[in-house]
Amino acid sequence: MATERTYIMVKPDGVERGLVGEIVKRFENKGYQMLALQMIQPTKALLEEHYTDLKEKPFFPGLIKYMLAGPVVGMVWIGKDIVKVGRRLLGETNPLASNPGTIRGDFGIDVGRNICHGSDSPANAEREISLWFPNGVVHWNRAHVQNLIY
Ligand code: TYD
Repeated sequence: MATERTYIMVKPDGVERGLVGEIVKRFENKGYQMLALQMIQPTKALLEEHYTDLKEKPFFPGLIKYMLAGPVVGMVWIGKDIVKVGRRLLGETNPLASNPGTIRGDFGIDVGRNICHGSDSPANAEREISLWFPNGVVHWNRAHVQNLIY
């Protein structure tokens, strides 16, 4: 059974533009299972922890400001190669470099408004899932879904 999980997040611009359903649909259509979904207004501290690897980058302050602009919708998905394939569904970091057919390629034009986030490695996915869902997420069992905490 597939155990790889990822953290996918619709950023404030994606939420404001009503793209949550579209993004959920693409992951469902691909065949992945959702384990968690939440709308949350993140704190600055949470965002700084989420993007801790980027804190020395020149775009970091602007990135945090953009991410604070409104609520985000965070999700946990599970399935085979979900981290790599999830990022393929999202597209490149810069929407202008993203192929049509990807989320950023279909809906974006600006790297500073690139609609969505996807974990870049299985280890980072688990770190991000713990950060955004500290109370755990559901287990998915094909026979039945149980509300068990990891
Ligand atoms: P990064 O982790 O490099 O990309 P990704 O989200 O594709 O994993 O960067 C995090 C976010 O920072 C990115 O989604 C958008 C923003 N960003 C900028 O605003 N300017 C930039 O030049 C880069 C590289 C990223």
